[in-house]
Amino acid sequence: MATQDSKSGSTSGTNSGSTKSIPGADEREESYSGVNKAGMVTFIASMAVTFVSFFYVSFFSGGIDLKEVKPADAPVEQVVAEAPVDVSGVTEPWLANADMVKHGAAIYKTNCAMCHGAGGAGDGVAGANLNPKPRNLIEGGWKQGGGELALFKTLQTGIPGGSMQGYKDALPAKDRWALVQFIHSITKTPEKDSEAELKAKAPTLQ
Ligand code: HEC
Repeated sequence: MATQDSKSGSTSGTNSGSTKSIPGADEREESYSGVNKAGMVTFIASMAVTFVSFFYVSFFSGGIDLKEVKPADAPVEQVVAEAPVDVSGVTEPWLANADMVKHGAAIYKTNCAMCHGAGGAGDGVAGANLNPKPRNLIEGGWKQGGGELALFKTLQTGIPGGSMQGYKDALPAKDRWALVQFIHSITKTPEKDSEAELKAKAPTLQ
């Protein structure tokens, strides 16, 4: 028994001795937990940076521009540009007037652009095979005169022998005066009738 006791005593003694006697064990444990702490600090710091930049981009910097093309933009602008102009208050439509020019541009687009071209250069698709060709309204070169009264007469009766029709039955006189003003706004050298002549003659024309 004594031997056993002494054996077990010696064994436990050896065990406890060996645990305590491993050189540097405490040191390793300390340095291991030291590495862990450093890793944790780095991890928390990187998470903090990630969240701060996330919140900055989301709420403060206005987001990241992905340069997306928004096709809805163009039609909206067009609708604004084509807003109809109210010319019901215009009593002398033959006199220069910015609203009448805008009104004339809208009527031109519907009734004349197919032959005379969207910009008035005489290059509309419906006029491509006509002879004579639709007039280039920017360059001018009028057969029947380029003053307001002469242009109005062309829009009343047309030009004999070609495809330029009269519009007396198709468009009210005020709309035809708007077309005259629109042509004067795009043509290079508008021939102006005097205001006195316009006031004397224009009101009688239909
Ligand atoms: C079917 C095609 C066609 C349409 C639509 C048309 N035109 Fe013309 N237009 C012509 C042609 C072709 C001529 C040239 C005729 C000629 O030289 O004899 C012409 C000539 C003219 C001229 C020149 C007049 C001159 O004295 O030389 C004016 C101004 C004109 N058009 C205005 C208009 C306006 C404004 C409209 C819309 C209301 C219109 N045209 C619609 C075909 C067209």
